[in-house]
Amino acid sequence: MVALSLPLSAWSPNRPCAAANLVSGGRCGRRKPKENTMSRLKLAVIIGSVREGRFGPVVARWFAEQAEAHGAFDIDVIDLAEMTLPLELPATSPMLDPNPPRPEGMRELTRRLDAADAMVIVTPDINRSYPASIKTAIDWHFTQWQHKTIGFVGYSGNSGGLLAIEHLRQVFNELNAHTVRDYVSFPRYYLLFDEAGRLRQPDEPAAAAQRMLDQLHWWASALAAARAVPAGV
Ligand SMILES: Cc1cc2nc3c(=O)[nH]c(=O)nc-3n(C[C@H](O)[C@H](O)[C@H](O)COP(=O)(O)O)c2cc1C
Repeated sequence: MVALSLPLSAWSPNRPCAAANLVSGGRCGRRKPKENTMSRLKLAVIIGSVREGRFGPVVARWFAEQAEAHGAFDIDVIDLAEMTLPLELPATSPMLDPNPPRPEGMRELTRRLDAADAMVIVTPDINRSYPASIKTAIDWHFTQWQHKTIGFVGYSGNSGGLLAIEHLRQVFNELNAHTVRDYVSFPRYYLLFDEAGRLRQPDEPAAAAQRMLDQLHWWASALAAARAVPAGV
């Protein structure tokens, strides 16, 4: 499996300038951090595939770098391959019992989902849907998703993760979570990334990521304030 060993800043030092990093005069600079105007929120970037030889960590690393450049989030990259995800579900739905006995190896996942204001699911299409690992991580939790904001980065063959994303939108409705409109999709990702895991043409995906991150921040800020008030819904 691919390990996320490189620091984000060291991952692609020579990449072409992404649209999100263009500054006045067409020069390439660092996108102005937003922390002065936007309150920082916690964003969990979740690597959904746990497959041997998976590509997911490359996509997640790229997206985490975009989120760092956006400047309004503290980012936590969660790799589902590092978590215990049994297919057996708890005896009582986590909607009814928010703290069912969970396996020791899942506690870390629960804690990190609890801490997040927003989540981005990095998912491939698997038989026109999303991997079972993501469904298991979802189904073992409820309050950790409820009243939170969810975005998506998809990749796969021709469908670019869009079939997985559409299915996940339905599921997150049941979790009382809000999914944002914009997404990032990499159809036939193997043509779009080079051997070093860098995008050959980074500008459009970077711009799509920044649009989604802006939406995530707006909704996550609103829902963070709303969560402070007892909902009853
Ligand atoms: C069992 C299986 C089913 C797949 N189904 C689809 C599919 O329906 N549509 C598609 O575009 N790609 C499909 N693919 C291709 C995957 O999206 C692609 O292999 C991707 O790299 C998987 O993500 P990963 O490498 O991070 O595990 C499938 C791959 C596997 C292994």
